[in-house]
Amino acid sequence: MAKMWAGRTAGKVDNLADSFNSSISFDKKLYKQDIQGSMAHAAMLSKQGIIAFEEADSIISALTQILSDIESGDLKIDPKAEDIHMFVEQVLTERIGVTGKKLHTARSRNDQVALDMRLYLRDFSDKITVSLKALISQLKDKAKENLTVLMPGYTHLQHAQPVLFSHHMMAYAMMLLRDVQRISDCRKRINVSPIGCCALAGTTYDTDRAFEAEQLGFDSVCLNSLDGVSDRDFCVEMLSCLSIVMMHISRLSEELVLWSSQEFGFVEMSDGFSTGSSIMPQKKNPDMAELCRGKTGRVYGDLIGLLTTLKGLPLAYNKDMQEDKEGVFDACDTVEMCLSVMTPMIKTMKVNADAMAKAASKGFMNATDLADYLVVKGLAFRDAYKISGSVVAYCIQNGLILETLPLESYKSFCQVIDKDVYDAIDLKNCVARRSSEGGTSVESVKKQIKFIEESL
Ligand code: ARG
Repeated sequence: MAKMWAGRTAGKVDNLADSFNSSISFDKKLYKQDIQGSMAHAAMLSKQGIIAFEEADSIISALTQILSDIESGDLKIDPKAEDIHMFVEQVLTERIGVTGKKLHTARSRNDQVALDMRLYLRDFSDKITVSLKALISQLKDKAKENLTVLMPGYTHLQHAQPVLFSHHMMAYAMMLLRDVQRISDCRKRINVSPIGCCALAGTTYDTDRAFEAEQLGFDSVCLNSLDGVSDRDFCVEMLSCLSIVMMHISRLSEELVLWSSQEFGFVEMSDGFSTGSSIMPQKKNPDMAELCRGKTGRVYGDLIGLLTTLKGLPLAYNKDMQEDKEGVFDACDTVEMCLSVMTPMIKTMKVNADAMAKAASKGFMNATDLADYLVVKGLAFRDAYKISGSVVAYCIQNGLILETLPLESYKSFCQVIDKDVYDAIDLKNCVARRSSEGGTSVESVKKQIKFIEESL
Protein backbone atom coordinates (compact mmCIF):
# COMPACT_ATOMS: atom_id res chain seq x y z
CA MET A 1 0.00 0.00 0.00
CA ALA A 2 1.20 3.54 -0.77
CA LYS A 3 2.55 5.38 2.25
CA MET A 4 0.48 8.25 3.58
CA TRP A 5 3.73 10.18 3.67
CA ALA A 6 4.67 9.32 0.09
CA GLY A 7 4.84 12.88 -1.17
CA ARG A 8 8.13 13.35 -2.90
CA THR A 9 9.06 9.69 -3.01
CA ALA A 10 7.59 7.39 -5.62
CA GLY A 11 9.63 4.20 -5.22
CA LYS A 12 8.49 1.39 -2.97
CA VAL A 13 10.09 1.22 0.45
CA ASP A 14 12.26 -1.82 0.97
CA ASN A 15 10.47 -4.44 3.10
CA LEU A 16 13.27 -4.63 5.62
CA ALA A 17 13.48 -0.85 5.93
CA ASP A 18 9.73 -0.75 6.30
CA SER A 19 9.67 -3.10 9.26
CA PHE A 20 12.77 -1.45 10.74
CA ASN A 21 10.96 1.87 10.60
CA SER A 22 7.73 0.60 12.10
CA SER A 23 6.85 1.24 15.72
CA ILE A 24 3.37 -0.25 15.75
CA SER A 25 4.47 -3.32 17.71
CA PHE A 26 4.99 -1.12 20.75
CA ASP A 27 3.23 2.21 20.16
CA LYS A 28 -0.10 0.41 19.72
CA LYS A 29 -0.20 0.83 23.47
CA LEU A 30 -1.02 4.49 22.78
CA TYR A 31 -4.23 3.87 20.81
CA LYS A 32 -6.45 5.41 23.45
CA GLN A 33 -4.36 8.54 23.93
CA ASP A 34 -3.98 8.91 20.18
CA ILE A 35 -7.73 8.79 19.62
CA GLN A 36 -8.39 11.07 22.58
CA GLY A 37 -5.96 13.61 21.09
CA SER A 38 -7.50 13.35 17.63
CA MET A 39 -10.97 14.00 18.98
CA ALA A 40 -9.83 17.19 20.67
CA HIS A 41 -8.00 18.18 17.50
CA ALA A 42 -11.11 17.75 15.35
CA ALA A 43 -13.14 19.77 17.84
CA MET A 44 -10.57 22.57 17.74
CA LEU A 45 -10.41 22.56 13.93
CA SER A 46 -14.17 22.97 13.65
CA LYS A 47 -14.38 25.60 16.40
CA GLN A 48 -11.84 27.62 14.44
CA GLY A 49 -13.72 27.11 11.17
CA ILE A 50 -10.81 25.18 9.65
CA ILE A 51 -13.10 22.23 9.00
CA ALA A 52 -16.90 22.19 9.04
CA PHE A 53 -18.82 21.33 12.19
CA GLU A 54 -20.42 18.32 10.46
CA GLU A 55 -17.00 17.09 9.42
CA ALA A 56 -15.69 17.24 12.97
CA ASP A 57 -18.85 15.54 14.13
CA SER A 58 -18.36 12.69 11.71
CA ILE A 59 -14.64 12.39 12.60
CA ILE A 60 -15.39 12.30 16.31
CA SER A 61 -18.14 9.70 16.07
CA ALA A 62 -15.98 7.53 13.82
CA LEU A 63 -13.09 7.84 16.30
CA THR A 64 -15.43 6.91 19.16
CA GLN A 65 -16.42 3.82 17.21
CA ILE A 66 -12.80 2.97 16.38
CA LEU A 67 -11.90 3.20 20.06
CA SER A 68 -14.70 0.89 21.11
CA ASP A 69 -13.92 -1.51 18.26
CA ILE A 70 -10.28 -1.73 19.35
CA GLU A 71 -11.34 -2.30 22.93
CA SER A 72 -13.88 -4.96 22.08
CA GLY A 73 -11.37 -6.70 19.82
CA ASP A 74 -13.54 -6.16 16.72
CA LEU A 75 -10.81 -4.00 15.22
CA LYS A 76 -7.37 -5.59 15.29
CA ILE A 77 -4.41 -3.24 15.20
CA ASP A 78 -2.64 -4.01 11.94
CA PRO A 79 0.92 -5.16 12.71
CA LYS A 80 1.96 -3.97 9.26
CA ALA A 81 0.95 -0.37 9.95
CA GLU A 82 3.81 2.06 10.40
CA ASP A 83 2.68 3.39 13.73
CA ILE A 84 -0.46 3.94 15.80
CA HIS A 85 -1.03 7.44 14.38
CA MET A 86 -1.02 6.18 10.79
CA PHE A 87 -3.16 3.21 11.71
CA VAL A 88 -5.93 5.25 13.34
CA GLU A 89 -5.95 7.78 10.52
CA GLN A 90 -6.03 5.04 7.92
CA VAL A 91 -9.00 3.27 9.52
CA LEU A 92 -10.75 6.59 9.93
CA THR A 93 -10.34 7.38 6.25
CA GLU A 94 -11.46 3.90 5.25
CA ARG A 95 -14.59 4.41 7.31
CA ILE A 96 -15.61 7.98 6.51
CA GLY A 97 -13.73 8.72 3.31
CA VAL A 98 -12.35 12.10 2.40
CA THR A 99 -13.46 13.79 5.65
CA GLY A 100 -11.05 11.52 7.52
CA LYS A 101 -8.21 12.97 5.49
CA LYS A 102 -8.93 16.40 6.97
CA LEU A 103 -8.05 15.41 10.53
CA HIS A 104 -4.31 15.87 10.05
CA THR A 105 -4.70 19.58 9.19
CA ALA A 106 -2.55 21.84 11.37
CA ARG A 107 -0.92 18.85 13.00
CA SER A 108 2.12 16.64 12.53
CA ARG A 109 2.97 13.25 13.91
CA ASN A 110 5.73 15.07 15.74
CA ASP A 111 3.41 17.00 18.03
CA GLN A 112 0.94 14.11 17.96
CA VAL A 113 3.41 11.58 19.37
CA ALA A 114 4.65 14.04 21.99
CA LEU A 115 1.02 14.57 22.99
CA ASP A 116 0.31 10.83 23.19
CA MET A 117 3.33 10.25 25.42
CA ARG A 118 2.32 13.07 27.74
CA LEU A 119 -1.22 11.75 28.00
CA TYR A 120 0.11 8.25 28.62
CA LEU A 121 2.47 9.34 31.39
CA ARG A 122 -0.18 11.54 32.96
CA ASP A 123 -2.53 8.55 33.20
CA PHE A 124 0.34 6.44 34.47
CA SER A 125 1.32 8.89 37.19
CA ASP A 126 -2.20 8.72 38.58
CA LYS A 127 -2.20 4.94 38.46
CA ILE A 128 1.21 4.46 40.03
CA THR A 129 0.35 6.90 42.80
CA VAL A 130 -2.51 4.64 43.84
CA SER A 131 -0.18 1.62 43.87
CA LEU A 132 2.50 3.45 45.82
CA LYS A 133 -0.02 4.62 48.39
CA ALA A 134 -1.29 1.05 48.78
CA LEU A 135 2.23 -0.13 49.58
CA ILE A 136 2.86 2.75 51.97
CA SER A 137 -0.39 1.99 53.72
CA GLN A 138 0.57 -1.70 53.97
CA LEU A 139 3.99 -0.88 55.47
CA LYS A 140 2.25 1.37 57.94
CA ASP A 141 -0.21 -1.40 58.87
CA LYS A 142 2.66 -3.83 59.36
CA ALA A 143 4.29 -1.27 61.64
CA LYS A 144 1.04 -0.86 63.58
CA GLU A 145 0.59 -4.62 64.03
CA ASN A 146 4.14 -4.97 65.32
CA LEU A 147 4.47 -1.64 67.04
CA THR A 148 6.69 -2.69 69.96
CA VAL A 149 8.68 -5.50 68.33
CA LEU A 150 12.37 -4.94 68.97
CA MET A 151 15.09 -5.69 66.45
CA PRO A 152 18.77 -4.96 65.95
CA GLY A 153 19.45 -1.71 64.18
CA TYR A 154 22.48 -1.87 61.90
CA THR A 155 25.18 0.31 60.49
CA HIS A 156 27.74 -1.36 58.20
CA LEU A 157 25.42 -4.37 58.64
CA GLN A 158 26.88 -4.68 62.15
CA HIS A 159 24.74 -4.52 65.26
CA ALA A 160 24.51 -0.86 66.18
CA GLN A 161 21.61 0.12 68.43
CA PRO A 162 18.26 -1.52 69.11
CA VAL A 163 15.34 -0.16 67.08
CA LEU A 164 11.69 -1.03 66.69
CA PHE A 165 10.73 -3.15 63.72
CA SER A 166 7.88 -0.66 63.24
CA HIS A 167 10.43 2.16 63.00
CA HIS A 168 12.23 0.20 60.29
CA MET A 169 9.00 -0.28 58.31
CA MET A 170 8.09 3.37 58.67
CA ALA A 171 11.47 4.39 57.23
CA TYR A 172 10.38 2.79 53.95
CA ALA A 173 6.94 4.38 54.21
CA MET A 174 8.63 7.80 54.41
CA MET A 175 10.83 7.06 51.38
CA LEU A 176 7.88 5.94 49.30
CA LEU A 177 5.85 8.94 50.37
CA ARG A 178 8.56 11.17 48.89
CA ASP A 179 8.29 9.09 45.72
CA VAL A 180 4.59 9.93 45.58
CA GLN A 181 5.44 13.61 45.98
CA ARG A 182 8.15 13.42 43.31
CA ILE A 183 5.73 11.87 40.83
CA SER A 184 3.09 14.46 41.57
CA ASP A 185 5.66 17.18 40.95
CA CYS A 186 6.75 15.51 37.72
CA ARG A 187 3.10 15.30 36.64
CA LYS A 188 2.94 19.11 36.62
CA ARG A 189 5.62 19.26 33.95
CA ILE A 190 4.05 16.37 32.02
CA ASN A 191 0.74 18.18 31.95
CA VAL A 192 1.71 20.81 29.38
CA SER A 193 0.32 20.44 25.88
CA PRO A 194 2.64 20.12 22.86
CA ILE A 195 -0.20 19.80 20.34
CA GLY A 196 -0.21 22.65 17.86
CA CYS A 197 3.58 22.83 17.72
CA CYS A 198 3.07 20.85 14.50
CA ALA A 199 6.15 19.55 12.69
CA LEU A 200 8.53 21.99 14.36
CA ALA A 201 7.67 25.60 13.63
CA GLY A 202 4.02 26.05 14.47
CA THR A 203 1.41 26.54 11.78
CA THR A 204 -0.11 29.05 9.38
CA TYR A 205 -3.64 27.99 10.36
CA ASP A 206 -5.56 29.99 12.91
CA THR A 207 -5.51 27.27 15.58
CA ASP A 208 -6.53 27.59 19.22
CA ARG A 209 -3.95 25.66 21.19
CA ALA A 210 -5.32 26.70 24.56
CA PHE A 211 -8.76 25.34 23.66
CA GLU A 212 -7.33 22.03 22.50
CA ALA A 213 -5.16 21.79 25.62
CA GLU A 214 -8.14 22.50 27.83
CA GLN A 215 -10.19 19.80 26.09
CA LEU A 216 -7.46 17.34 27.02
CA GLY A 217 -7.15 18.50 30.62
CA PHE A 218 -3.74 20.16 30.28
CA ASP A 219 -2.76 23.01 32.56
CA SER A 220 -1.00 25.00 29.84
CA VAL A 221 0.70 24.76 26.44
CA CYS A 222 4.40 24.48 25.48
CA LEU A 223 5.51 27.98 24.58
CA ASN A 224 8.17 27.04 22.05
CA SER A 225 7.25 24.76 19.18
CA LEU A 226 10.78 23.41 18.70
CA ASP A 227 10.92 22.54 22.37
CA GLY A 228 7.44 21.02 22.32
CA VAL A 229 8.28 18.45 19.65
CA SER A 230 11.93 17.88 20.55
CA ASP A 231 12.19 17.31 24.21
CA ARG A 232 11.42 14.16 26.10
CA ASP A 233 12.61 15.51 29.43
CA PHE A 234 9.22 14.64 30.90
CA CYS A 235 9.92 10.99 30.02
CA VAL A 236 13.40 11.21 31.50
CA GLU A 237 11.99 12.80 34.61
CA MET A 238 9.39 10.07 35.06
CA LEU A 239 12.06 7.41 34.50
CA SER A 240 14.17 9.12 37.15
CA CYS A 241 11.27 9.07 39.58
CA LEU A 242 10.68 5.41 38.78
CA SER A 243 14.37 4.60 39.22
CA ILE A 244 14.23 6.12 42.69
CA VAL A 245 11.09 4.11 43.48
CA MET A 246 12.91 0.95 42.38
CA MET A 247 16.00 1.88 44.39
CA HIS A 248 13.78 2.01 47.48
CA ILE A 249 11.95 -1.19 46.57
CA SER A 250 15.27 -2.88 45.94
CA ARG A 251 16.70 -1.95 49.33
CA LEU A 252 13.56 -3.21 51.03
CA SER A 253 13.76 -6.40 48.94
CA GLU A 254 17.38 -6.92 49.90
CA GLU A 255 16.45 -6.73 53.58
CA LEU A 256 13.56 -9.13 53.12
CA VAL A 257 15.85 -11.61 51.37
CA LEU A 258 18.41 -11.29 54.13
CA TRP A 259 15.82 -11.51 56.88
CA SER A 260 14.31 -14.64 55.31
CA SER A 261 17.61 -16.51 55.59
CA GLN A 262 18.31 -19.20 58.21
CA GLU A 263 20.88 -16.90 59.76
CA PHE A 264 18.37 -14.12 60.40
CA GLY A 265 14.94 -15.74 60.39
CA PHE A 266 13.37 -12.37 61.19
CA VAL A 267 10.54 -12.80 58.68
CA GLU A 268 8.92 -15.51 56.66
CA MET A 269 7.15 -14.90 53.38
CA SER A 270 3.80 -16.61 53.01
CA ASP A 271 3.62 -19.67 50.76
CA GLY A 272 1.70 -17.58 48.27
CA PHE A 273 4.71 -15.36 47.74
CA SER A 274 7.51 -17.92 47.94
CA THR A 275 8.88 -20.53 45.60
CA GLY A 276 10.49 -23.90 46.07
CA SER A 277 13.45 -25.56 44.40
CA SER A 278 13.22 -28.18 41.67
CA ILE A 279 15.91 -30.25 43.38
CA MET A 280 16.09 -29.28 47.07
CA PRO A 281 12.78 -30.18 48.72
CA GLN A 282 13.47 -28.15 51.86
CA LYS A 283 13.78 -24.83 50.06
CA LYS A 284 11.53 -21.83 50.43
CA ASN A 285 12.89 -18.98 48.39
CA PRO A 286 11.99 -15.29 48.50
CA ASP A 287 11.92 -15.05 44.69
CA MET A 288 9.46 -12.15 44.60
CA ALA A 289 11.75 -9.88 46.59
CA GLU A 290 14.73 -11.02 44.54
CA LEU A 291 12.90 -10.23 41.32
CA CYS A 292 11.99 -6.76 42.55
CA ARG A 293 15.65 -6.22 43.38
CA GLY A 294 16.69 -7.61 40.00
CA LYS A 295 14.18 -5.63 37.97
CA THR A 296 15.63 -2.43 39.39
CA GLY A 297 18.45 -2.88 36.90
CA ARG A 298 15.98 -2.83 33.99
CA VAL A 299 14.43 0.41 35.12
CA TYR A 300 17.83 2.08 35.58
CA GLY A 301 18.69 0.79 32.10
CA ASP A 302 15.54 2.39 30.69
CA LEU A 303 16.55 5.72 32.20
CA ILE A 304 20.16 5.61 31.02
CA GLY A 305 19.05 4.33 27.61
CA LEU A 306 16.77 7.29 27.00
CA LEU A 307 19.25 9.84 28.30
CA THR A 308 21.82 8.40 25.92
CA THR A 309 19.40 8.39 22.98
CA LEU A 310 18.63 12.05 23.52
CA LYS A 311 22.04 13.44 24.31
CA GLY A 312 23.33 14.06 20.80
CA LEU A 313 20.13 14.99 19.01
CA PRO A 314 19.89 18.28 17.15
CA LEU A 315 16.55 20.08 17.24
CA ALA A 316 13.85 19.32 16.33
CA TYR A 317 12.29 15.84 15.86
CA ASN A 318 14.60 12.98 14.90
CA LYS A 319 13.51 9.42 14.35
CA ASP A 320 15.83 8.38 17.17
CA MET A 321 13.08 9.65 19.43
CA GLN A 322 10.86 6.76 18.46
CA GLU A 323 13.18 4.83 20.77
CA ASP A 324 11.71 6.61 23.80
CA LYS A 325 8.69 4.37 23.99
CA GLU A 326 9.84 0.85 24.75
CA GLY A 327 11.96 1.98 27.69
CA VAL A 328 9.22 4.16 29.11
CA PHE A 329 6.59 1.43 28.75
CA ASP A 330 8.94 -1.17 30.17
CA ALA A 331 9.74 0.95 33.22
CA CYS A 332 6.08 1.79 33.82
CA ASP A 333 4.98 -1.84 33.54
CA THR A 334 7.87 -3.08 35.65
CA VAL A 335 7.30 -0.69 38.53
CA GLU A 336 3.57 -1.31 38.48
CA MET A 337 4.16 -5.06 38.60
CA CYS A 338 6.72 -4.86 41.42
CA LEU A 339 4.43 -2.71 43.55
CA SER A 340 1.47 -4.98 42.96
CA VAL A 341 3.48 -7.98 44.19
CA MET A 342 5.28 -6.21 47.03
CA THR A 343 2.10 -5.00 48.76
CA PRO A 344 0.39 -8.38 49.36
CA MET A 345 3.77 -9.97 50.06
CA ILE A 346 4.32 -7.55 52.95
CA LYS A 347 0.74 -8.06 54.09
CA THR A 348 1.12 -11.83 54.33
CA MET A 349 4.69 -11.80 55.66
CA LYS A 350 5.15 -13.35 59.12
CA VAL A 351 7.19 -11.29 61.56
CA ASN A 352 9.27 -13.38 63.94
CA ALA A 353 9.55 -11.17 67.03
CA ASP A 354 11.44 -13.81 69.04
CA ALA A 355 14.19 -14.18 66.46
CA MET A 356 14.58 -10.43 66.32
CA ALA A 357 14.71 -10.13 70.12
CA LYS A 358 17.27 -12.92 70.32
CA ALA A 359 19.43 -11.26 67.69
CA ALA A 360 19.08 -7.93 69.46
CA SER A 361 20.44 -9.40 72.69
CA LYS A 362 23.76 -10.02 70.98
CA GLY A 363 26.26 -7.50 69.78
CA PHE A 364 26.34 -5.05 72.68
CA MET A 365 23.85 -2.70 71.11
CA ASN A 366 23.42 -1.04 74.50
CA ALA A 367 27.06 0.05 74.72
CA THR A 368 26.09 3.61 73.71
CA ASP A 369 23.49 3.59 76.47
CA LEU A 370 26.13 2.57 79.00
CA ALA A 371 28.22 5.55 77.89
CA ASP A 372 25.17 7.83 78.06
CA TYR A 373 24.49 6.51 81.58
CA LEU A 374 28.00 7.55 82.64
CA VAL A 375 27.44 10.99 81.11
CA VAL A 376 24.33 11.37 83.27
CA LYS A 377 26.56 10.43 86.23
CA GLY A 378 28.83 13.37 85.39
CA LEU A 379 31.50 11.99 83.04
CA ALA A 380 32.48 13.66 79.76
CA PHE A 381 31.17 11.69 76.78
CA ARG A 382 34.64 10.82 75.41
CA ASP A 383 35.70 9.36 78.79
CA ALA A 384 32.38 7.56 79.15
CA TYR A 385 32.81 6.14 75.62
CA LYS A 386 36.26 4.75 76.55
CA ILE A 387 35.02 3.10 79.72
CA SER A 388 32.04 1.55 77.95
CA GLY A 389 34.40 0.20 75.28
CA SER A 390 36.63 -1.41 77.91
CA VAL A 391 33.61 -2.98 79.62
CA VAL A 392 32.49 -4.45 76.26
CA ALA A 393 35.98 -5.84 75.59
CA TYR A 394 36.00 -7.43 79.06
CA CYS A 395 32.60 -9.00 78.47
CA ILE A 396 33.70 -10.44 75.12
CA GLN A 397 36.78 -11.98 76.74
CA ASN A 398 34.70 -13.51 79.51
CA GLY A 399 31.70 -14.65 77.53
CA LEU A 400 29.36 -12.15 79.20
CA ILE A 401 26.96 -9.48 78.01
CA LEU A 402 26.33 -6.09 79.63
CA GLU A 403 23.13 -7.41 81.17
CA THR A 404 24.94 -10.29 82.95
CA LEU A 405 28.05 -8.45 84.07
CA PRO A 406 28.03 -8.29 87.92
CA LEU A 407 27.90 -4.86 89.57
CA GLU A 408 31.31 -5.32 91.25
CA SER A 409 32.91 -5.87 87.84
CA TYR A 410 31.23 -2.69 86.59
CA LYS A 411 32.59 -0.84 89.60
CA SER A 412 36.10 -2.02 88.83
CA PHE A 413 35.85 0.02 85.59
CA CYS A 414 34.17 3.04 87.15
CA GLN A 415 33.09 3.67 90.73
CA VAL A 416 30.05 5.79 89.82
CA ILE A 417 28.29 2.80 88.24
CA ASP A 418 25.42 1.63 90.42
CA LYS A 419 22.66 -0.95 90.20
CA ASP A 420 20.49 1.45 88.19
CA VAL A 421 22.88 0.64 85.32
CA TYR A 422 20.81 -2.46 84.55
CA ASP A 423 17.78 -0.31 83.85
CA ALA A 424 19.86 1.96 81.70
CA ILE A 425 21.09 -0.86 79.48
CA ASP A 426 17.80 -2.76 79.23
CA LEU A 427 17.11 -2.89 75.51
CA LYS A 428 13.44 -1.95 75.86
CA ASN A 429 14.47 1.11 77.86
CA CYS A 430 17.17 1.92 75.33
CA VAL A 431 14.48 2.13 72.66
CA ALA A 432 11.98 3.96 74.89
CA ARG A 433 14.52 6.63 75.75
CA ARG A 434 15.17 7.45 72.08
CA SER A 435 12.19 9.74 72.17
CA SER A 436 13.82 12.56 70.24
CA GLU A 437 11.83 13.69 67.21
CA GLY A 438 12.06 10.96 64.56
CA GLY A 439 13.70 8.54 67.03
CA THR A 440 12.79 4.89 67.52
CA SER A 441 10.62 5.21 70.66
CA VAL A 442 7.06 3.88 70.48
CA GLU A 443 5.68 7.41 70.85
CA SER A 444 7.80 8.64 67.98
CA VAL A 445 6.74 5.75 65.74
CA LYS A 446 3.10 6.43 66.60
CA LYS A 447 3.60 10.02 65.46
CA GLN A 448 5.10 8.79 62.19
CA ILE A 449 2.14 6.47 61.65
CA LYS A 450 -0.24 9.37 62.23
CA PHE A 451 1.72 11.53 59.79
CA ILE A 452 1.59 8.86 57.09
CA GLU A 453 -2.12 8.27 57.67
CA GLU A 454 -2.80 11.98 57.30
CA SER A 455 -0.58 12.25 54.22
CA LEU A 456 -2.37 9.41 52.46
N1 ARG B 1 6.38 6.70 15.22
C1 ARG B 1 6.96 7.99 15.35
C2 ARG B 1 7.61 8.11 16.74
O1 ARG B 1 7.24 7.40 17.58
C3 ARG B 1 5.96 9.07 15.18
C4 ARG B 1 6.51 10.35 14.74
C5 ARG B 1 6.99 10.26 13.33
N2 ARG B 1 7.43 11.52 12.84
C6 ARG B 1 8.16 11.66 11.72
N3 ARG B 1 8.52 12.83 11.38
N4 ARG B 1 8.56 10.61 11.04
O2 ARG B 1 8.47 8.94 16.96
